[in-house]
Amino acid sequence: MKFQGKAAMITGASVGIGRAVALCLAAQGADLVLLDINKESLLAVGEEAKKYGCRVLTYDCDVSDEEKVNEVTSDAAKRLGKIDILVNNAALWRDRASLAESSSELWKKYLDINIMGVYYCTRAVICGMIENGYGRIINVASVAGVYGNAKMVHYSTTKGAVIAMTKALAKEVTDKGVLVNCVSPGSVSPSQNEDIDFFKPSELSFMGRTGTDRENANLICFLASDEASYISGQNIQIDGCRKKL
Ligand SMILES: NC(=O)c1ccc[n+]([C@@H]2O[C@H](COP(=O)([O-])OP(=O)(O)OC[C@H]3O[C@@H](n4cnc5c(N)ncnc54)[C@H](O)[C@@H]3O)[C@@H](O)[C@H]2O)c1
Repeated sequence: MKFQGKAAMITGASVGIGRAVALCLAAQGADLVLLDINKESLLAVGEEAKKYGCRVLTYDCDVSDEEKVNEVTSDAAKRLGKIDILVNNAALWRDRASLAESSSELWKKYLDINIMGVYYCTRAVICGMIENGYGRIINVASVAGVYGNAKMVHYSTTKGAVIAMTKALAKEVTDKGVLVNCVSPGSVSPSQNEDIDFFKPSELSFMGRTGTDRENANLICFLASDEASYISGQNIQIDGCRKKL
């Protein structure tokens, strides 16, 4: 049990990659703190995770709500004793609009959730991690943050920022035992919370298919583990060898 005695906080844990990470960590002994705005699905994931015998706390929490993030993180840290692992996964990504057509409301919503949400959650756990001399922070960015996607300038901008945040923060806290990394998925086919190995054909990768939630979760769980003890400040692409369209 790789994560026995460890407490992991995962944002956007109701579906997709976040859910797969939660179940992967629970299966290996971690206690969980799960945040999402989709309360019903979150409770269902919590019940699934409890079958592994771990403690699970679920919070109906919008990561862009600074006060709420502080409140739930401090409650969870009190109840579980600490937070060892943070996976900043919650984000918006589905809206498409050219920059010319896009509104400042759309941009502000993306900046608030995809950047400020990562900042709030990270700031809420970082002092505890530094105090304990141990932490693992894994941010979920995107290949859009590396190459840029047309019609998704708003999204690409936020994911580029998350990659930069990862690299800069790692320089502040790696020597204190807190390792900070980023994963950048290519195209991922959502599992619909049923078959977590689901994928589709894709022309965007040389493998000719999309990635699965579980493949992404495997990488994130590796970075969250003690086996990844010499990795910090990295952005690792998980994209089946992306064609840079
Ligand atoms: N699916 C893809 O093809 C893909 C590709 C590259 C990167 N990513 C990144 O992977 C991550 C997960 O994506 P996914 O497709 O698995 O999940 P998703 O988009 O289907 O779900 C994201 C989860 O985050 C939650 N969420 C949204 N806004 C929130 C908020 N303000 N506060 C709290 N929770 C919130 C949603 O309710 C949902 O449970 C995201 O960061 C996304 O940008 C996904």
